[in-house]
Amino acid sequence: MRVFIVKNYEELGVQAAQIVSGQIYVKPNSILGLATGSTPLSMYRHLVNIYQEYGLDFSEVTTFNLDEYVGLPEDDKNSYHYYMYNHLFRHVNLDRMKIHLPDGMAVNIDEECLAYEKAIQDCGGIDLQVLGIGQNGHIGFNEPDEKFEAYTHEVKLKQDTIEANARFFDDVSEVPTRAVSMGIKTIMQAKKVVLLANGSNKAEAVYRAVCESITPTNPASILQLHQDVIVIIEEGAATYLRDRLTLQQKERILFFNKIHECNGIIAS
Ligand code: F6R
Repeated sequence: MRVFIVKNYEELGVQAAQIVSGQIYVKPNSILGLATGSTPLSMYRHLVNIYQEYGLDFSEVTTFNLDEYVGLPEDDKNSYHYYMYNHLFRHVNLDRMKIHLPDGMAVNIDEECLAYEKAIQDCGGIDLQVLGIGQNGHIGFNEPDEKFEAYTHEVKLKQDTIEANARFFDDVSEVPTRAVSMGIKTIMQAKKVVLLANGSNKAEAVYRAVCESITPTNPASILQLHQDVIVIIEEGAATYLRDRLTLQQKERILFFNKIHECNGIIAS
């Protein structure tokens, strides 16, 4: 696990976009796993810039989103379909046939989960997975639980997640209570993972993900077992790490203050 602390949210977006564009440059037909929420917005903005300014070619890229609410149609402004088209897909030359999000309106959600998982496997798995992190440690919508759910599945959202996401809705009562999410194994099978965190409200979750024991009650902790994870955190989200990291933990985690040191890694 390599942890990079960047000075602000804008820088987080720049660095994350560089990693994604580096991935596409090295492998034009990359399979990308994508996240929604407030954290990756600056990354998407910078990716669109890179496309417009430097002609980054998305035409062979395939995307799979982590999750989607159950019961929101694609044109609902709070659906993750809407978010992705609004912030990335309609601005770049992605082939619409290569874009995948779970269908939260599927009549049979279990069948939809199986089909989504199969589509990922049929493409050969995800090359680069972008993740945000919930305050409760969720990745995708894998909520704290007694066991790690392996594959794409239907999730009952925890009350704290519903409350955290209520900021995007007019009222908390409008937040869907269920979602379809890639599973932990789906995520862990990605060849590379980039975990992004922004804001002091994520500081504890980041610390727990990086330093505390691996348990399904703290889903992001599983990433400690992945062989190629880059964690990019903005200063505010890094406060617990800075304050609490023991020397022993620092030795275990490659810990950088500037992402620039990892440029060589991206191109390899
Ligand atoms: C979104 C997702 C979630 C979010 C997490 C953080 O596709 O899978 O895990 O990444 O809830 O959300 P924000 O970035 O809004 O704080």
